[in-house]
Amino acid sequence: VSNALAAAQLESADHAIAEAAALLRDGETVAFPTETVYGLGADATSTAAVERIFKAKGRPSDNPLIVHIADRKQLAGVAAPGWIDAEHRQLMEAFWPGPLTIVLPVETGGISPLVTAGLSTVGVRIPDHPVALRLLQEAGCPVAAPSANSSGRPSPTLASHVRDDLDGRIGGLVDGGPTGVGVESTVIQFVAGELYILRPGGVTAEQLRSVLPDTRIHEPGREDVHETVTPRAPGMKYTHYAPQGYMHIVQGDDEEDVIAWIQLDIDAAKARGESTGILTFEERASRYRADRVIACGSLSRPETIAQELYAALRRFDEEGIRYIAAEACPETGIGHAIMNRLRKAAGHRLVRV
Ligand code: TXA
Ligand code: MG
Repeated sequence: VSNALAAAQLESADHAIAEAAALLRDGETVAFPTETVYGLGADATSTAAVERIFKAKGRPSDNPLIVHIADRKQLAGVAAPGWIDAEHRQLMEAFWPGPLTIVLPVETGGISPLVTAGLSTVGVRIPDHPVALRLLQEAGCPVAAPSANSSGRPSPTLASHVRDDLDGRIGGLVDGGPTGVGVESTVIQFVAGELYILRPGGVTAEQLRSVLPDTRIHEPGREDVHETVTPRAPGMKYTHYAPQGYMHIVQGDDEEDVIAWIQLDIDAAKARGESTGILTFEERASRYRADRVIACGSLSRPETIAQELYAALRRFDEEGIRYIAAEACPETGIGHAIMNRLRKAAGHRLVRV
């Protein structure tokens, strides 16, 4: 019985992917799972199709989109081949398919200028998800896809998040269950032989360093003030991932101080009549009292914090929580990406205790 069920599920997945691929070829938008977050895809070569993405998300048109391809052969027509050097190839070898977006000079005449927001570069990646890969193969075109949320909201890690934000505004949705990594891809660019991390994400700086030990790697927020050439991802200037309520981050070296400070802060907010929320980790959730305490993953397994972060931020909104204190997590490995998103969600409000 279970085999027949599995076969039926596979068949319906096949059918859904075939239908979604046809929609993409017709210039429609389709939301689909990747290993990071759900993306909202459209044929990157069609300006009319890409316009539909910006419209559905309410995304500012000066924020460029990532192009998703099924394999390296599809790079032709997207990125200018002359600029792809040995270091790019080493990264592709090591991390594709996977959560690494590489910014390359764009091939002229290949994709719609809307994708790159008029820049001369394009961000490209091969996602590491069976549904995404099959969809890209069947569509046969490079697919521009930002995260499938309304602009400013946390990125979707479940199909239901996509429905909540974009129902009725998109051509289709392939439900592939929860995504794996939970935060978006790392976006990188080489400038004058040095590697800049424009957005921390699923591939950590440590992982990049292990593949390119002799390359200077610049991490965001860790720049010397003397730097002159510092490209930024254009999208990073916008408010992102923010819950509707007020949120701030509390960081400190002493666990007991942090817990005590947060509890006092939350009690004061409660006394003012606020609905209160605390974003913490499994190890500490039982230490707090608030209208809603969310244990977002485990400090002993930081990848679980990344997996659960966006769903947790959305849950505060669903429950109408208006005042949120969030615990910081250590900034190593995937912790860089987690804290980067948390800072944006909190409008960069951070208390050190
Ligand atoms: O994991 C991900 O990357 C997900 C999944 C769907 O693939 N996509 C995603 O796309 O996060 P989006 O549009 O939400 O974020 C794209 C980021 C933005 O910060 C944008 O500014 C940056 O990549 N970006 C895109 N093209 C760029 C370029 N040519 N130069 C610099 N930054 C670029
Ligand atoms: Mg996004």
